[in-house]
Amino acid sequence: MHHKHTGGANLLYPSLTTIVGAVLDGKPNWMAIAHVGIMNHGGKDVPHYISISCHPSHHTNEGIREHGEFSVNIPGRSLMEKADYVGIVSGKTRDKSGLFDTFQGTLNHAPMIKECPVTMECRVAQKVIVGEHEVFIGEIVGSYVAEECFENGKPDLKKVDPILFDFTRIRYWSLGEYIGDPWRTGKSLKS
Ligand SMILES: Cc1cc2nc3c(=O)[nH]c(=O)nc-3n(C[C@H](O)[C@H](O)[C@H](O)COP(=O)(O)O)c2cc1C
Repeated sequence: MHHKHTGGANLLYPSLTTIVGAVLDGKPNWMAIAHVGIMNHGGKDVPHYISISCHPSHHTNEGIREHGEFSVNIPGRSLMEKADYVGIVSGKTRDKSGLFDTFQGTLNHAPMIKECPVTMECRVAQKVIVGEHEVFIGEIVGSYVAEECFENGKPDLKKVDPILFDFTRIRYWSLGEYIGDPWRTGKSLKS
C-alpha cells in the first residue's frame, strides 16, 4: 500500500455511538457521545473503567459534575434518529428528558434507557482535561443487557445491532460479519 499523508487527523474510526445520561434539575438529560474508550478491563475484584470525552459546554456535563454519576447507553439501529437528535439539540434549550423510558440501577443519578439493548451505570473515578475536552473516567457500577440480546449466555453484538460512528465522512455504519476469534486466529503463525 502507498500512503498519502493526511495531516494530523484522528482516524481512529469507527467508534461506537452511545447516549450518555445524567441528571439535571431532577430530570434526565441525554447527549450522543461517540468518543468513548475502554480504560481498564477489570478482573474479578477490579472494576472496569470506561471514558467519555465531552466538550465542557455540553449541558449533560453539568449533571455529571454535580452528581459524579452518568450512564452510557448503547442504542441499536432502531434508535438512530433519537440518538442523532440528542447529539444535535442541547438540553439548555430543549427538554430531552421525556425521549426515552428509563430505569434505575444502583446509582441515583445515572438514568438508563429501557429501549437500549446495553446500558452501564458509572461513577466518576477521575476527570481529566485533554485539549478542549473534559474526559470523565467512570467506574462501571452496573451493566445491563436486554434479555433478547443474549446468545448462549453472552451478549450478542448482532442482536445489539450497534450504530458505528465515522467522523471522517460523517456517517453511521452497521456491524459487519463475524470473521474470526481473537487470541486464536494468529496462532498458526506462531509455529
Ligand atoms: C453522533 C454524535 C456523536 C457525538 N459525539 C460527541 C463526543 O464524543 N463528544 C462531545 O463532546 N460531543 C459529541 N457530540 C455532540 C453532543 O452530543 C451535542 O453537542 C449535544 O447536543 C450535547 O447535548 P447537551 O448540551 O444537552 O448535553 C456528538 C454528536 C453526535 C450527533
